[in-house]
Order: sequence, then structure tokens, then C-alpha cells
Amino acid sequence: MKLSTAFITAIAVHTAAGAAVNTDGALSNEEIIATILENPHLVPPTTYRMLQAKSSDLQKRQDAPATKSVAPKSTVPDVQDEPAKAWKDAKRRKVRYGPYRIPPTSEKNFASEYMNIKGMADTFAIGAKKPCDGECTILGLVGDIEYADGKPASNSQGAWFHHAVLLNTGPQVLDGNCGTSKIDNMFMSGNERSMNGYSLPNAKIKSGYRIHKDDSFVLTTELMNMQDKEQWVWLTISYEYLDGHQPDYKDGRMLWMSIGPIGIRCGGAAVKSPWGPSNLTLAQQPKLDVFSEHSLPWVAPRDGWILATGGHMHDGGVNLQVFHNDKLICTSTPTYAHDGHGMGGMRKRQIKGGEKSNDDIDHIKKQEGCNFLEGRPMKKGDTLYIAANYDFKRFPGMKNKKGELDEVMGISGSVVAY
Ligand SMILES: *[C@@H]1O[C@H](CO)[C@@H](O)[C@H](O)[C@H]1NC(C)=O
Repeated sequence: MKLSTAFITAIAVHTAAGAAVNTDGALSNEEIIATILENPHLVPPTTYRMLQAKSSDLQKRQDAPATKSVAPKSTVPDVQDEPAKAWKDAKRRKVRYGPYRIPPTSEKNFASEYMNIKGMADTFAIGAKKPCDGECTILGLVGDIEYADGKPASNSQGAWFHHAVLLNTGPQVLDGNCGTSKIDNMFMSGNERSMNGYSLPNAKIKSGYRIHKDDSFVLTTELMNMQDKEQWVWLTISYEYLDGHQPDYKDGRMLWMSIGPIGIRCGGAAVKSPWGPSNLTLAQQPKLDVFSEHSLPWVAPRDGWILATGGHMHDGGVNLQVFHNDKLICTSTPTYAHDGHGMGGMRKRQIKGGEKSNDDIDHIKKQEGCNFLEGRPMKKGDTLYIAANYDFKRFPGMKNKKGELDEVMGISGSVVAY
């Protein structure tokens, strides 16, 4: 796929020194974007649509409107070392990325015109800062958003951490989900701001995510405003890591499985599901009130262990079940609360639909997973899949502008080690 240089320049806004250049088998900037476009499983659907739209017709689609506003000056350091919180022997380093402008909800821009979403801005940066310059082993990481002075940017101020995705690229990188070479989705986070690990603090098996010297990070963000007032925020990622390569540590990876006709599925939408037709539309909206939607089975590429698994759903979800070789190994159940707005919650859409408005209903506040401290052995060729159970008669779902049920998600992140 040939992409225009204008496109690369337009989206690689924060390309820093040391970004991927085409030497020693690393992907060039152009190849990074082309590889993502050829492998939709690497990023969430909205990020994918943004990249696709901007690359296919850049000339006609202006990114942000001409704005004269300038980011406030950051008054705290870009890199902050702190005591580790989850893994006591690790170092913890918080890196501030940005600043990111989150547009007022009334602004006409790319997201509002093309994707119908108000107050949203997407960014894509090649060569984002890594926690270490040389080699290191990341045990876990957590994302958040904050203001110029380091104070948290919260939902109550209208700042919504929709999601961020961190991709790792490099000659030795291998995608942990579908085996795409030289690029991997290593971290995804949203408003729930939970710690993602490549290991468990008390597990028998030690594991971590290996960062090589020649790896390069690609950071894509989708941040949203719920107020009609421009804001500037910084995305932070706090890494808990060990210096250098750790020969005693297994290779820890995040495995993502997701429901729906487009979600994260190896081979893309063309692959036929053994579970029959999807219960979701292409826009991920439910076709039924009660259903159990499955992901495509994932096949283990090597022998290893499953260390943890858990789910993320939107309102309406009853639970998310994880199966290993058809055996149920985890039921991840969401907790609802009236002030939830925690996970999938698209609170921006406060439009009445049916008898209840999105503010009247209970929202998912948290969703616990399962840990396997001893490690659950997994053999090459074993399968894993999820079933997301929804019942909108029991738990009313969020509604969109038209009063239809909003998009749903069923996604699980599992920690596996090889
Ligand atoms: C759709 O839901 C039905 C009923 O719960 C289920 O049997 C079927 O397997 C589901 N389809 C997919 C793709 O999971």
C-alpha cells in the first residue's frame, strides 16, 4: 500500500528522534501505518476507521479546524520516577505524553463530521517515549490523563479517557495475538484506568514484556470532552519494570479476544465464525435483547501458561466467560452502580431513549477477572475463546441519539507467558 508523505506527516504528529527508520529490518513510518491498515485487529475499530479515512482521502478530510489556541505550559516533569506500587522489586516510571487538545463538544471537526462523535480527538504518534533507552522488562503498566500541573483530569471535569493504545514495533517484535511480524498491540486502556500486567505479583511463574534496544513505540489516543469548553490534557503511562533483559523471566504477553463481526479477530472480517452469524451489526449494535456472543477461537502458537484473564463489557452485560479447550475457566462478572460511568459508559450521549435516559440507568462500575497464581498450562494448538452474555431485559443498555441500543463490547485481556 502506498501512502502519501503528506499523510505520514499529518498523522505522525509527535514523531521524535529515534523513531522507526528503515534500518536493520525495522518498519519505516509508512510501513507501520500500512501494516496496521492491513491488520485491523491491532487497534480498536474507531482508531482503525480514523486511520483508514485519513489515509484514503486526506485532501478532503481536514483534521482539526484551524485553531489558534496553544497548550498551557506543563509545570511538572515529563518523566517522573516513583516507588513501585504493584511489584515491589520493580522501578516505576511515569511518562507524560502530549499535550493533547480535547475539543469543545460544539466544534466541527474530523470526529464530529466523519464519525459522528462530538468532542473527540484522535492522535497517532510514531516514536513515543519508552520507559528505558536500552533493554528492559516491563512487568505492568497503567494509563491515566492529567492537566498541565499534574492534577488528574476526571470525568467530572468533562475529560473522558476514551482509550489509548500502545503498539511496540521493532525487528524482533512479534504480535502476541495473530503473529503479525514486527508490530504488537502491547497495551490498551480506557476510562477504567486499571493496571495491566504481563505477570502477576505473586505468581509462581515470573514473566515480563521484553523491550529491545531497537524497539520503537507508537501511541494512539482517543480522548473526549463532555463539555463545550476546550481542554488540554496529558496522557500518562506509569511503567513498573526491571532494567535489562531478564533471562529467568518468561515472555509475558497480553492476549486480546473480542466479540462482534469486526473486533479483534485474526484474519479480519472475512474469517467465518464457527458460532454462526454474529448477534451484532457492523457498528457493534446488538440485534437481540438476549444473546451470547462468542469470539473466534484463538490458537496457542507455543506451549505456555495462562496467568490471568478478565473481561470488559458495556451496560447490558451479564458476564463474560473464558473457555480453554471448551472448558470454562473464568466467569468475569460486572458490578453495576448508579454512579458507575466507569467502563463502557458513553456518558456523552445523554439523550432519552425508551423510558429511561442514559443517566437514569445503572452503569457498569467494575468487572473483576480471574488469576491463576500457579499458572494454567497451555499447549501449542490449545484454543481459547470468550462468550459475552448480554441481557438488556435485566440491565438496560445505553442508547444512542436515535434511541437505539448503543454499541456493545465484549473484550477480554488475558496474561499469557511462554
Ligand atoms: C448469537 O447468539 C446465539 C444465542 O445466544 C448463540 O447461540 C450464537 O452462537 C451467537 N453467535 C455468535 C457468533 O456467537
